[in-house]
Amino acid sequence: MKETNYKKICKVSDLPNRRGKKFTIAEDTDIAVFRVAEKIYAVSNVCPHNQSNVINEGYLDEALYVACPIHGWQFSLKTGKVPPECKGLSATLDTYEVKIENDEVWVEVKEKKKKWFF
Ligand code: FES
Repeated sequence: MKETNYKKICKVSDLPNRRGKKFTIAEDTDIAVFRVAEKIYAVSNVCPHNQSNVINEGYLDEALYVACPIHGWQFSLKTGKVPPECKGLSATLDTYEVKIENDEVWVEVKEKKKKWFF
């Protein structure tokens, strides 16, 4: 069974309600973390449209879609996918598991896929 690695990023009280915050959890891995009441979501901070590292500054709607502040593409905090009405757009944000222990927020650190160049 695969063991999941987690990294402690902050305390729950460090996260403002419904506003994003950026964290670096590994080399070249920035995430956007949003707290919505008691639930915490973590997604890649890099918008797949233009590789802009800005999702933490995005606007969050009631359905928990965050809009990239540059051109407005929307992504679900739950799945990383675009809204169903955006047919044909396959861009997604990576999502990360979050756990809370003793008021500390821990986020999954994914193993990087190795790239081979020949
Ligand atoms: S850079 Fe995010 S929508 Fe264009």
